[in-house]
Amino acid sequence: MQDRIHTYIESLIQKRKPIFVEMEQYALEHDVPIMELTGIEALLQILRIQGPTKILEIGTAIGYSAMRMADALPNTNIVTIERDEERFNEAIHNITRSGLDHQIKVLHGDALEIVEQMKDLGPFDALFIDAAKGQYLKFFEMYTPFLSHDGIIYTDNVLFKGLVAEEYIESKRTRNLVKKINHYNEWLMNHNEYITSIIPVGDGLAISKRK
Ligand SMILES: C[S@@+](CC[C@H](N)C(=O)[O-])C[C@H]1O[C@@H](n2cnc3c(N)ncnc32)[C@H](O)[C@@H]1O
Repeated sequence: MQDRIHTYIESLIQKRKPIFVEMEQYALEHDVPIMELTGIEALLQILRIQGPTKILEIGTAIGYSAMRMADALPNTNIVTIERDEERFNEAIHNITRSGLDHQIKVLHGDALEIVEQMKDLGPFDALFIDAAKGQYLKFFEMYTPFLSHDGIIYTDNVLFKGLVAEEYIESKRTRNLVKKINHYNEWLMNHNEYITSIIPVGDGLAISKRK
């Protein structure tokens, strides 16, 4: 049922610009985990409603989501962080040839180590967490101080292909990761200062705002 709905929605989504279609294909061929189509489309629509001036993204990969956000929100600036050198270089290449470089600044480094740089780059109206799933809680705690008072936090992959609701997972590695995501979801949903809603779109999108 879920898969059929997902396929149905995807079939209705309009064709993206050639550079985005090309990047989607590249991601598929090179195993780069970019956002799922229904997930990015939902995120873009919510961002259009929110209208942020500045977005901070943790997890650039090849620049797909940053470029989709910049393209959908022409008056928005995006700072995005990527630790993998090859992906960072690919992102720079894609952003430059798309002509969106005036809107997007890519930082090369581990988000757990370069947080100090945000002092000069923030405040941000939106924080998009889409990097190592086991570190979500740390990213949230480290980067929310750089949000404006009404800033919104978007976290991708919180349903992790539905595995968060599975009772038994064979692979130990996956089981540990799911445990961390479940812990993050519970922590987030019970946060004293933020109210969160989990939207079952794409790989699961959590949207948090200050109470
Ligand atoms: C799911 S991909 C990002 C996809 C991208 N947001 C998109 O939809 O086009 C996650 C990326 O985060 C990067 N990453 C993971 N942990 C990180 C960290 N601590 N600091 C910076 N980048 C990190 C990975 O190298 C990977 O390229």
